[in-house]
Amino acid sequence: MAVNTGMPLTERVAAVVADLPKDRSQLLPTLWRLADHFGCLSPSLLAAVSEVMHIPYAEIYGVASFYALLPWDPGQPVIVRVCTDVMCSLKNSSELPTVLKDHEGVVVKESPCLGQCDLGPAALVGSRVVRNATPGNLAAEIGEMRHG
Ligand code: FES
Repeated sequence: MAVNTGMPLTERVAAVVADLPKDRSQLLPTLWRLADHFGCLSPSLLAAVSEVMHIPYAEIYGVASFYALLPWDPGQPVIVRVCTDVMCSLKNSSELPTVLKDHEGVVVKESPCLGQCDLGPAALVGSRVVRNATPGNLAAEIGEMRHG
């Protein structure tokens, strides 16, 4: 999580993405970098991105709101996507959503293959990949995501 240094947001955004090209093809990597740095996206952050990249706000908002994995409000529930595709199902991944449903502030969704078949069961906690997922390591990841 970034510390507010008193520097204007636009300058902080420019510093965080200084090494990335400022064209549309880099918008998604830019949003990921900023979400990781600031903890989540916000309207004011998107406005700063618009200014730094010279891309209309509406276009940036369209991209940012389209990708469900990009984090927005830190108060929003943690989304956990558990792979229930064939390979992970063979390792009992279908039991994980049941175990996690009792966690307050967590929304559990079943997911198709996450591309981690060799280390399944796999899950995503927000955008973080969890391999060899168990109720214990998923709870730890959820806690880390909430509290940094
Ligand atoms: S089947 Fe679960 S990650 Fe591929």
